[in-house]
Amino acid sequence: MTKTLTILGIESSCDDTAAAIVRQTNGVPEVLSSIVHGQNDLHENFGGVVPEIAARAHVEKLDISVKQALTKANVTLADLDGVAVTAGPGLIGGVVSGVMLAKGICAATGLPLIGVNHLAGHALTPRLTDQVTFPYLMLLVSGGHCQFLLVKSHDDYTRIGGTIDDAPGEAFDKTARILGLPQPGGPNVQKAAEAGDPKRFKLPRPLLNQAGCDMSFSGLKTAMIRARDAVIAENGGLTLQDQADLSAGFQTAVADILTEKSRRALQAYFALDPTTRTFAVAGGVAANSQIRQQLQALCATLDTEFVAPPLALCTDNGAMIAYAGLARFDAGDQDDMTLSARPRWPLDQTSAPMLGSGKKGAKA
Ligand code: KG4
Ligand code: ZN
Repeated sequence: MTKTLTILGIESSCDDTAAAIVRQTNGVPEVLSSIVHGQNDLHENFGGVVPEIAARAHVEKLDISVKQALTKANVTLADLDGVAVTAGPGLIGGVVSGVMLAKGICAATGLPLIGVNHLAGHALTPRLTDQVTFPYLMLLVSGGHCQFLLVKSHDDYTRIGGTIDDAPGEAFDKTARILGLPQPGGPNVQKAAEAGDPKRFKLPRPLLNQAGCDMSFSGLKTAMIRARDAVIAENGGLTLQDQADLSAGFQTAVADILTEKSRRALQAYFALDPTTRTFAVAGGVAANSQIRQQLQALCATLDTEFVAPPLALCTDNGAMIAYAGLARFDAGDQDDMTLSARPRWPLDQTSAPMLGSGKKGAKA
């Protein structure tokens, strides 16, 4: 007998309003629709996401996103088995907006309500896209997150390291700003770096030789400002070649840190004796081609499969929330109307919490 589950996923924890429909048939998931309304233009003049502006924009776009997701998937509310919604961690105004909409739909239809940890959404994406088997190692690396997770089941995660200060995406965005490159920084720094010499500037790789998988990027940011200021003091400004060389030096430093720390995280993962060895990445920074190439090369030397989901499912989206909710619901778990929105919500409740709070929302 065919067993299907169809779930609506709602995401509004940062600066993307998203809704999606995911259907699982006999254990195989499929994204029927995934709608994302970004807010880059609303925040671009402020140097970061402004929580109040984000929350208001979510309220305007949430119900439209849900309608579009249903229409595109060619389903109605009556075809759904449940409503999954990001209940944290994230910017609280946005999270509350999504949770209230989900509660409203569930109150009106009687559908089950499933609260989802945003990080679980990212962490389970390799199962949605590539049917990866547990346990696997995940590197989540974006503008707001940077952590290594051992993913053992849909509700069993161990964080074995992460940034102790900034997320790499923040550092890419800051680097673009100090070099006079446009936002978002990552793709523009990557483009500038193509013509650059990564060896011209000596940039630090903080914590590289320290044991464990923790990382730090704020010292690298400061070193970039110093290197730029030294060039300006000497030559009166930055040439295109200076921009390219600084970008290439920065990108290589980030790639080296992520690669070395991934090597150590993989050792911790291999100790679990997994039946198949899989290392997956997610988050906007995982789009960087040098970082991808270095991580892929590392996996090739360690007989490990490297999984990088398509970018649209690596960055914030509703499909990952629908799928994480589906996994919870399939295991017999759901919430009731007391579900609350949480600004902070570590996936791994046992490891010590990480320091700091990224400009794009709470780190966990
Ligand atoms: O996952 P994401 O869309 O949003 C969250 O942070 O949650 O990630 C956005 C971040 C930005 O900081 C952006 O500069 C960075 O990912 N990014 C990149 C690249 N594309 C996007 N960083 C490095 N290289 C890229 N090609
Ligand atoms: Zn995210």
